[in-house]
Amino acid sequence: MPERPEAPTIEAVETTAIMRALSSTHGNVSSAARLLEIGRATLDRRISELQLDVASLRIPRAEETIMYGLVNKGLEDLIRTEHGDAAWQRICQLGGVDAGSFSTMQAYPDAITYRLVGAASDELGIPASALLERFGAHWVLYTGRQGYGELFKLAGRSVEEVLCNLDALHGRMGESFPEFRAPEFRCTRRPDATLDLIYRSTRDGLAHMVIGLIRGLGEHFGTPVEIVHAVTRAERGHDEFVLRVTPG
Ligand code: HEM
Repeated sequence: MPERPEAPTIEAVETTAIMRALSSTHGNVSSAARLLEIGRATLDRRISELQLDVASLRIPRAEETIMYGLVNKGLEDLIRTEHGDAAWQRICQLGGVDAGSFSTMQAYPDAITYRLVGAASDELGIPASALLERFGAHWVLYTGRQGYGELFKLAGRSVEEVLCNLDALHGRMGESFPEFRAPEFRCTRRPDATLDLIYRSTRDGLAHMVIGLIRGLGEHFGTPVEIVHAVTRAERGHDEFVLRVTPG
């Protein structure tokens, strides 16, 4: 007679729920507690009792990679514009960063950017994923204002064209930013007129920024985009999106 599969223990169910929440917040315990609708102290206690490895979820290797200050300045611009200067000061304090210290052409550890996103998520009470989406949409406007509008125009005149030229666009950035570590995109048109966008990066946790960027492109060209996140990095080591662009 075949053996009946054993029912999972309460601890196993709880471990899965907690690890899922922590994974979606990249190890940010306060945000995960909010997702799980329990107190921060309760979550801290369960993490310790269940001996969960939170450190591994806190964006691996972040200290080893660097990102240009333009990115941190873009985040600063978003927060200052939408939440005010005082909110940015508090976020920098929470993240242990000197407010107003970023320079566009200087590279900073990715860990600083992730810390700022975590601190902003805590301070503003917004999940990190939602904040990254807003940041992605803002990036399209921000880079335009910072003198990269021409580069952006060269990349294309529609959402599809820009997405298919992203590697060339970032390649051009790499010419003036020597330590640039570009993400990779592959864009393919499918027979049903949807687009398949594959996103690869050495950095973890930025898929929601890509979603925001695609939305921002849609707004810029007046052509809303339906986005399905079809494959996640956790599943296959890269992200895949299926996009349907509504003609304007
Ligand atoms: C003129 C427009 C743009 C400029 C100037 C620009 C520039 C940059 C810069 C400076 C970085 C930081 C990389 C580093 O320092 O190593 C970056 C990262 C990134 N860019 Fe762009 N970018 C532009 C448009 C876009 C668009 C339209 C997308 C759409 C998906 C995109 C996707 C990304 C992503 C996802 C990252 C994060 C890095 C990673 O995934 O590893 N960018 N970009």
